[in-house]
Amino acid sequence: MIAFDDLSVRFGGVCALDGLTAELTAPVVGLIGPNGAGKTTLLNVLSGFVTPWSGKIRIDGADLLALSPIRRVTLGLRRTFQQELVVDDLTLWENVQAIADHVVRDRAAATADIERAIAFVGLQRSRQVLGRHANLFERRMVEIAKTLIGRPRLILMDEPGAGLNEAETDRLRRLLLDIPATFDTQLVLIDHDADLIAAVCAETLVLDFGKRLALGPTRAVLDEPAVRRAYLGTA
Ligand SMILES: Nc1ncnc2c1ncn2[C@@H]1O[C@H](COP(=O)(O)OP(=O)(O)O)[C@@H](O)[C@H]1O
Ligand SMILES: [Mg+2]
Repeated sequence: MIAFDDLSVRFGGVCALDGLTAELTAPVVGLIGPNGAGKTTLLNVLSGFVTPWSGKIRIDGADLLALSPIRRVTLGLRRTFQQELVVDDLTLWENVQAIADHVVRDRAAATADIERAIAFVGLQRSRQVLGRHANLFERRMVEIAKTLIGRPRLILMDEPGAGLNEAETDRLRRLLLDIPATFDTQLVLIDHDADLIAAVCAETLVLDFGKRLALGPTRAVLDEPAVRRAYLGTA
């Protein structure tokens, strides 16, 4: 469980997060809101790239902000980025292996983890493809496979569905649904596709101008008039 308590982030005059208080308990939590709402900033605070102006974050009761970014990874925090970080000169397998070198001590265990993650995201047949030759979907799958290495406890994904076609979104949806039970981890998912969010997230947090606009069961949240106005552009 993630608990934010009066969390604020400022960039100069911009208040990217503004007194956010929320508890996220579902296995897959949706994080939505218009562009500039503060979604990526929230992931950056969780992973330690951004230091908040004020507030607290507790993960299963532990004080997250007291931990260095490396310590957070050791404890099972993982994330993907809006721009995938796939190394051109490495194969897809080696891209996943590069992470395993940092989070799994034992070599045999690392290989087993990589095999499992590659199989889970369906990259067995393209494991020898070089990063530079991978298509968008394969790059996304590499990003997701990397989060599954070691013992993830909380995975943060920043728009994994952006730019995917319908069939690819379908595969992504099934994958995301299976992650919490298969890897015993919580997942926070940012996406603009309300159908994808509704299909995989039991609970959703809506941000608007850095503030909590809504939080609760996804269907009910998506039906709130304030959310429809801010996020879906309808009244
Ligand atoms: N490193 C930064 N420096 C200055 N302003 C930033 C920085 N990161 C984000 N912001 C600003 O904070 C606000 C929230 O941005 P962001 O978290 O990226 O929104 P979202 O991911 O919801 O689109 C925006 O106004 C953005 O311009
Ligand atoms: Mg963003």
